[in-house]
Amino acid sequence: MNGAFSTHRPVLLQEALEGLAVAPEGYIVDCTFGRGGHAKAILDQLSDRGRLLAFDKDLDAITSQEAAALLRDSRFALRHGSFAQLKEIVEAQGWADRVSGVLMDLGVSSPQLDEAERGFSFIRSGPLDMRLDTSRGPTAAEWLTTAPESELAQVLRMFGEERFARRIARAIVVERSRRPLLTTGDLARIIEEAVPTREKGKHPATRSFLAIRIFINRELDELEQGLRQSVDLLRPGGRLVVISFHSLEDRIVKRFMRNEERGSEPAAARWPRPSPCPARLRRIGRAIMPSPQEIAANPRARSAVLRVAERIA
Ligand SMILES: C[S@@+](CC[C@H](N)C(=O)[O-])C[C@H]1O[C@@H](n2cnc3c(N)ncnc32)[C@H](O)[C@@H]1O
Repeated sequence: MNGAFSTHRPVLLQEALEGLAVAPEGYIVDCTFGRGGHAKAILDQLSDRGRLLAFDKDLDAITSQEAAALLRDSRFALRHGSFAQLKEIVEAQGWADRVSGVLMDLGVSSPQLDEAERGFSFIRSGPLDMRLDTSRGPTAAEWLTTAPESELAQVLRMFGEERFARRIARAIVVERSRRPLLTTGDLARIIEEAVPTREKGKHPATRSFLAIRIFINRELDELEQGLRQSVDLLRPGGRLVVISFHSLEDRIVKRFMRNEERGSEPAAARWPRPSPCPARLRRIGRAIMPSPQEIAANPRARSAVLRVAERIA
């Protein structure tokens, strides 16, 4: 389904544009095309000499009708790929020394959540897939069927901060010995039955689904790789803008920007002394959250946090 019935409303759009400080002749990389909400607004700010290169790990995103519409614009290029390939994608475009802005709008898009067959939703039952890139890697069902109980519990605790991780892991192992785990509805029911208490306003499967998604897509690892590569690519004065949607992501972004702002002096006691890492970023402003009006109009914006940093010479 190429977004025919579900589209994505860009989060913190104006704030992202301001963070990127898009110059009319800028060369901007959008690492999370989604349904092109941010991409379209960036293109609107570029002159004939500006360029936008976007990519996404999800094949549905890059073959969506929104992608087809934007591809009519000769200033725009779109690729299939992940954050881990950021440098490769940019260099293949011949942009190695040109990048003036990098945008990462993390997580999943509304069509990914809304289309049951992608397997991200515990509300609409579908096949237990959860891969952003359906062209590779194990599905959630394959992992849940084969992973040892201890690994299941560790993933739920580490990536979902789920306090009933061990109970849920046990329940999954018991259930999978009786019948195959095939749908998101099956998994949601097992979790609902396994947890003794509920968090107010939260479905009991929320944390586990997030944890499994992060694990299956290696989201945190790829985020770290993308952040590092973006700093290598940005020209002095270029901007990095990242929008995160949960605390694990935001912690990585915050620490990364802080460390790149400080740089590092090698420990005096070490011999041979490694060369010092100079500061490469300057943080711009504080973390930005959506306004109450934006959250009212788009509840999926509620947990967003935007951070901006500038590449220094
Ligand atoms: C929140 S949506 C982006 C929405 C987009 N900014 C818009 O306005 O339509 C996040 C997108 O990032 C993609 N994505 C997530 N992790 C990725 C990764 N590691 N590499 C590339 N794309 C990724 C997802 O497939 C999804 O389409």
